[in-house]
Amino acid sequence: MDASSRSDGSRSFRIEDESVTRGREVKIFIDGRKVDAFEGESVAAVMMVDGEVAMRTTIDGEPRGVFCGMGVCFDCLVVVDDVPNTRACMTWVKEGMQIKSQRGLSAAN
Ligand code: FES
Repeated sequence: MDASSRSDGSRSFRIEDESVTRGREVKIFIDGRKVDAFEGESVAAVMMVDGEVAMRTTIDGEPRGVFCGMGVCFDCLVVVDDVPNTRACMTWVKEGMQIKSQRGLSAAN
């Protein structure tokens, strides 16, 4: 592992291990936009990289996003292939997957 420091004081790490590889590249759709992803990535990870901080809103309209990242809090609920209340952090991307931000508790946005 190789570490380097940035000007803001944070550090980045590069893991040089050839046993770690990315999965096959896939195309998914987030709120109708085509997005590149790789098999093995979670929906939450791809959405965050794509700039989505709030993946859903509560029935009162409060924004929610990834909190625990391990399937416990249910703050990351999205609509995946028309199935509402799908945890983005526990769902792996697949070719052609349709993901929508969720409003309230249903698939209707
Ligand atoms: S972030 Fe907590 S369940 Fe997904």
